[in-house]
Amino acid sequence: MNFENFILPHIWNLKPYSSARDEFKGKEGVFLDANENPLGSGLVENWNRYPDPLQLAIKEQLSEIKSCKTDQIFLGNGSDEAIDLIMRMTCQSGVHNIILCPPTYGMYEVSASINHIEQRKVSLTKQYQLDVEGILKTINSNTRLLFICSPNNPTGNKLNRSDIYTLIESFKSGFVIIDEAYIDFSDEPSFIMELAKYPQVIVMQTLSKAYGLASLRLGMAFAHSSIISLLNKIKPPYNIGGATQEIVHKALANTSFKEEAVKSILSERSRLIEGLENIPEVIHIFPSDANFILVQFKRANDLFHFLIEAKLITRNRSSVALCEDSIRITIGMSEENDKLVRLIQQFYSA
Ligand SMILES: Cc1ncc(COP(=O)(O)O)c(C=O)c1O
Repeated sequence: MNFENFILPHIWNLKPYSSARDEFKGKEGVFLDANENPLGSGLVENWNRYPDPLQLAIKEQLSEIKSCKTDQIFLGNGSDEAIDLIMRMTCQSGVHNIILCPPTYGMYEVSASINHIEQRKVSLTKQYQLDVEGILKTINSNTRLLFICSPNNPTGNKLNRSDIYTLIESFKSGFVIIDEAYIDFSDEPSFIMELAKYPQVIVMQTLSKAYGLASLRLGMAFAHSSIISLLNKIKPPYNIGGATQEIVHKALANTSFKEEAVKSILSERSRLIEGLENIPEVIHIFPSDANFILVQFKRANDLFHFLIEAKLITRNRSSVALCEDSIRITIGMSEENDKLVRLIQQFYSA
């Protein structure tokens, strides 16, 4: 695959910033090279030294967990950093375009708008699946990115794998980005295992969901090593802070937490669905492969505001096309889910 055709020439030819920690990688010695404060930070733990710009300790753990090589992993300040960098690497404003399949995660559109990139939208079908024919008709020779989110946010469902394969095999002028932020809650295998076969695919995942580390901001992109080295070339040199690197390292060493959390969230998801099924004003509970459910209610807007008044915060998606009268509900702890069901019953019995 000749990636050069998909990458903007000024990025391909960029001479990256070379940080002090790039130029000297050893850990032992007297460090007078990075204009740091030698006295520490005035805290119990000291953060006065710049962190590893390539976060190798974490990537070694992730390469085992995700069964890929360390040079196939990019780490960003949340997935949103990876989304932005991929756009900046591939798309020139006024020339290239990207394909989005709404309703989907809002940051693809926002990031494209910030970078002034044309967005071509091909809505999901009424069953919340990809409109493969529509997408293929909309792609042109200036299409550089096709964003696919599976399981999809806000609908919660996974997209048909065979449709994703059809698109990967048909789209030849750029990258297919498969956002798997919610993959840990799904029985679907990751597309990471397909990277060798499809080098034009970039898979995104995050530690913000199943791993419970949203506050640390750690998003991951998995791709062919040449794409990863381009992303590393254009990222801010120390984009992942030292504290994040250290805590993530500890969290990934706890091998059972994620599995147990997923099991518990999935069992709560079934319980919440059962609770909602008994409420006649619930019009539809959409199938979910994620840690949230999209639910269509009678008088959804009023219900949403009633829940806010009761200090129970959900996400009103009623104004989103194809999600009319629907509220997105994150699966909480048992008592939180019980409270939600009680409040909804109370709202409709008033
Ligand atoms: C589909 C999808 N991708 C990415 C993200 C963002 O992840 P991060 O916290 O890593 O920026 C979200 C957050 O809700 C999401 O729903």
